[in-house]
Amino acid sequence: MPDRKVLTNRQGHPVYDNQNQRTVGARGPATLENYQFLEKVSHFDRERIPERVVHARGVTAYGYFEAYGAWGEEPIERHTRAKLFQERGRRTEVAVRFSTVIGGRDSSEAARDPRGFAVKFYTEDGNWDLVGNNLGVFFIRDAIKFPDVIHALKPDPVTFEQQPRRIFDFMSQTPESMHMLVNLFSPRGIPADYRHMQGFGVNTYKWINGEGRSVLVKYHWMPKQGVRSMTAEDAANVQAGSLGHATKDLYEAVERGEYPEWELLVQMMDDHDHPELDFDPLDDTKTWPEQDFPPRAVGRMVLDRMPENFFAENEQISFGTGVLVDGLDFSDDKMLVGRTFSYSDTQRHRVGPNYLQLPVNQAKHAEVRTNQRDGRMTYHVDGGGQNPIVNYEPSVMGGLHEADYPTHDEQGPEIRGRLTRKRIPRTNDYLQAGQRYLLLEDWEREDLVKNLVGQLSQCERPVQERMVWHFLLVENDLGLRVGEGLGITPDDVLGLEPLPNQNLTEEDRERLGKLG
Ligand code: HEM
Repeated sequence: MPDRKVLTNRQGHPVYDNQNQRTVGARGPATLENYQFLEKVSHFDRERIPERVVHARGVTAYGYFEAYGAWGEEPIERHTRAKLFQERGRRTEVAVRFSTVIGGRDSSEAARDPRGFAVKFYTEDGNWDLVGNNLGVFFIRDAIKFPDVIHALKPDPVTFEQQPRRIFDFMSQTPESMHMLVNLFSPRGIPADYRHMQGFGVNTYKWINGEGRSVLVKYHWMPKQGVRSMTAEDAANVQAGSLGHATKDLYEAVERGEYPEWELLVQMMDDHDHPELDFDPLDDTKTWPEQDFPPRAVGRMVLDRMPENFFAENEQISFGTGVLVDGLDFSDDKMLVGRTFSYSDTQRHRVGPNYLQLPVNQAKHAEVRTNQRDGRMTYHVDGGGQNPIVNYEPSVMGGLHEADYPTHDEQGPEIRGRLTRKRIPRTNDYLQAGQRYLLLEDWEREDLVKNLVGQLSQCERPVQERMVWHFLLVENDLGLRVGEGLGITPDDVLGLEPLPNQNLTEEDRERLGKLG
């Protein structure tokens, strides 16, 4: 006999007929007290929650992070007291969600789009989320511009079509986006799948050691499988067969026992503003030169299990940049601060105010004891003190009390300044974009130029001219080639004034002078 169990409704009542609703006579009408039918359909009516406003399409996988216990040759504790990094071989469970950014939940995974690379570490000190992307930098450096950059990249609000004229209209007025654009329109802009891509924390964070000393850090994930990308033609072919090839690839690889693996590398610098550098260490449109700040491996991550329920574990999983553990900290990076507000805010709206009670989001290796109560979909009462009526603090009747203050107080930099609204002084928008361009192989440069010309030919002339002007500042060769594809010469654009929102460096001005 097959093992078949009796169907019930959510009240535990057996369902005797799941094919016919209750009606007066075989041909109806139906009655309003039709509890079983109404429950079933009204629950179905609510099956969807809002999809993520960005990164809607994605896939979760589980595995572990294994620490090396050292930063290069040095014991890691010299730089961070975060427990998960100590001792060689120490393992921490992780959940990872890979994603595209702009498309909806069922959109193509072969799109030219940054990829999300979000890792939740379930540590004994509570959860740590490292929410990154595959390109290492971002379009903007101040969180106040995030809704604008996303609106420009999302479909046109009238025709619901993604439009290069809107994207480059915005980018042409946003010089800090050039580094990201050189990456995004090169083959790296379409990773072959999720297993063959890098991940980067992008924003600058801090590590704090046992004495309270802080350093600035950036995180990098390097795939043991290697990096593979697709050209637009490859992507069109893949997309013709499936919109979800990367999710499928990950499920199938894990099923075959080919567990993907990444090494985590960390770059470090002293915690101050580094006036000697030609960029600001808190600027997420910049990378840190590897010769000066060598990335050192601190551990590896292996993914060996896929979710059993896509909705519960992929749609409801919730990451945020505010989710840090002892020994890790924020920097004043203006994007990071804005992101840290945005994630939990959207999750209270998207999943609900008790999203942290869901199994996939719970701090499963640390006890949770709060005086937070109630709210929609409360599933249980967070662990409390001995006295169940004391859901406040302080109290002499029991309840929870504060932890002892850490003996290692933090000694971050002292900051003084007036409240203001100013861009950072060292914007240097073109230098690293140009260096990146020069690092590309010939065929990658050709692909980049082709992709940019293809998109920009759909834009208005002033947008094309401004983009050629930017690209000439990025690297002559790039500006000339994109200009050639659009029928625009340097002479056509040299009269353009710098944008009001940009600081040109001496080198930028010299370059403009030479062009003239
Ligand atoms: C998802 C905001 C910049 C990586 C999201 C979500 C929001 C958001 C609202 C949806 C979260 C959810 O519904 O659970 C912002 C803001 C940013 C910003 C305001 C800038 C100020 C970035 C940057 C990166 C990034 C620079 C990469 C380093 C991600 C990833 C996800 C995500 C990976 C998907 C997380 C998941 O898989 O659930 N972001 N974001 N975001 N963001 Fe950002």
